[in-house]
Amino acid sequence: MTAFVARHVLNKVTSVLHFFVFLLMAVAILAPCALAVPVPIVLTGADRRPATSLNGEWASIVDPYFSGLFSFHHEEKKNGYFMNYKAKPGDPFPTEYDFSKAPKLKVPGDWNTQRDSLMFYEGPIWYEKDFTYDPKPHTKVFLHIGAANYHSWFWVNGQKVCEHEGGFTAFNCDVTEAIHAGGNFVVAAVDNTRHEDNVPTLETDWWNYGGLTREVSLIQVPETFIDQYDLHLSGKEAGSIEGWVHVIGGQPGEKVDVEIADLRGKATADIGADGRAAFHFNVQGLERWTPESPKLYKVAIHAGGDSINELMGFRTIETRGSEILLNGKPIFLRGISIHAEAPYRTGRAYSDKDAETLLGWAKELGCNYVRLAHYPHDETMLRAADRMGLLVWSENPVYWALQFDNPKVLAKAEQQLDEEINTSRNHAAIILWSMANETPNNTARTQFIETLAIRARSLDPTRLITAALLVRAKGDTKIVDDPLGKALDVIGINEYIGWYEGHPESADTTQWQIDYEKPVIVSEFGAGAKAGLHGGENERWTEEYQADVFRHQLPMLNKIAQLRGMSPWCLMDFRSPNRPLTGIQDEFNRKGLISDQGQKKAVFYVLQKAYKEKTIGKAD
Ligand code: GCU
Repeated sequence: MTAFVARHVLNKVTSVLHFFVFLLMAVAILAPCALAVPVPIVLTGADRRPATSLNGEWASIVDPYFSGLFSFHHEEKKNGYFMNYKAKPGDPFPTEYDFSKAPKLKVPGDWNTQRDSLMFYEGPIWYEKDFTYDPKPHTKVFLHIGAANYHSWFWVNGQKVCEHEGGFTAFNCDVTEAIHAGGNFVVAAVDNTRHEDNVPTLETDWWNYGGLTREVSLIQVPETFIDQYDLHLSGKEAGSIEGWVHVIGGQPGEKVDVEIADLRGKATADIGADGRAAFHFNVQGLERWTPESPKLYKVAIHAGGDSINELMGFRTIETRGSEILLNGKPIFLRGISIHAEAPYRTGRAYSDKDAETLLGWAKELGCNYVRLAHYPHDETMLRAADRMGLLVWSENPVYWALQFDNPKVLAKAEQQLDEEINTSRNHAAIILWSMANETPNNTARTQFIETLAIRARSLDPTRLITAALLVRAKGDTKIVDDPLGKALDVIGINEYIGWYEGHPESADTTQWQIDYEKPVIVSEFGAGAKAGLHGGENERWTEEYQADVFRHQLPMLNKIAQLRGMSPWCLMDFRSPNRPLTGIQDEFNRKGLISDQGQKKAVFYVLQKAYKEKTIGKAD
């Protein structure tokens, strides 16, 4: 063979080899995509849309080894419990599960408080529900989940429709291709196992309530639909409303309308190349939302065949030096911290009644503000805050010592922050996005949370960014110089003088050095007491001791020149596995001003008096 021919043949062979290498690479890259499960989306104002509720009883299977999903060599099964198979005579293999015979769990609701055997359970549990549906032509159908703690997987009619991580934010799975007319079934697997690289991480001071803890429903939208929007009062021009409406499936140039009938306000805007229609229009006679007068307006948003009827308040929030200005006027935030713990029944709160009981107690206390700790609370709580006139600190669950040097953990925190802000960005009540709580002061942590703060500002430039910081001590002086403060608009500080350190009267001689000329909110202070336990002021766990801590705290806090708010810890006793003291705690954190059974402790009236007489903080 001449050299020429040999070279020609070699070229041919090489190009064929290149083709096969390319083909293999393409398969390697595309194959997972082909099997990839669609990522769930955010639907702003999902609770304002007509929906088919899937709340109620679901069949359940407790599956600690997750054998319903994974084979023994940890590969996802093709015929796991999600197939909801019904054994037939003559089957070649036994079917060792049957949802139709399985015990029930109520949705919404954590599983821990529904069955004694599940109170401490951490692991996977399966849920299954049959439903009938009649999908309309030219529509899309989403499975809406208000929250599933912590990691969850969903199938409709045996077809995987989504997977989600994060226990406190709503998400929506596109089930259009999997659902059909007539009888359907949905299967969910929810795993509340804690992992070091989760957000939050292994250790929290609250109960790890697992399950479908908030509402589940089906939402049908036109093929072109509104997925996210943000409308707010312009901070620059009085009486002008600005924002945007994002449309999926819309074409640039198509129209979106926004109408506020009571203000005779109406505007139309074109969808841009980014899918967003930008709005900026004037209205007459707008009454600004305030805690004293929480005015809500009906806002109709139309895009193509889709529409949403919102209920929104309009106000401005900003800082000026160390002042917080609501609608341009200085305000002092008389608050209380609240966990999403259901009054009386305990467990994860989810209902309007839960929200109205908790926020009703906050109003009775004299609050104009609540810190909804330590994770995004649900839309029922935020709608109630809008209605009842309570300003809100909403918090991403970056709690204590996460793996701050792990990019995967940052991505999880960013995903949950995005879901929190994009779901709840239209609540007038929310004024503060909190990035974190009590994180250790080190470089990796500061960079991690600065990244979140920048992200939050880009998602929502209309609100204030904060975090609850730890303080350090030098003799009798408390020093607030955490470098993270530079990235915040409002400095939150947690301190427990009189409980975790010193005695109640230690507060009398404590000085404060705050290295920031920014508004300060004391986001936590307090002490534990068992309701009904009485004794001397020097006896821990008595109502008298707890009240005495507050009596010494309040005058001390008034010495802080930048003090613009407080949210003592906390409104109501809540479950925590960190609090086992028999006869006193019994797995409850007892720092509530009110017991989980609604008993107001003496301290409730100490704080109520200070708030009602405005002897704490600058009168606004
Ligand atoms: C911490 C933490 C709370 C916890 C509280 C307490 O500051 O932020 O989540 O419950 O202290 O110790 O009671």
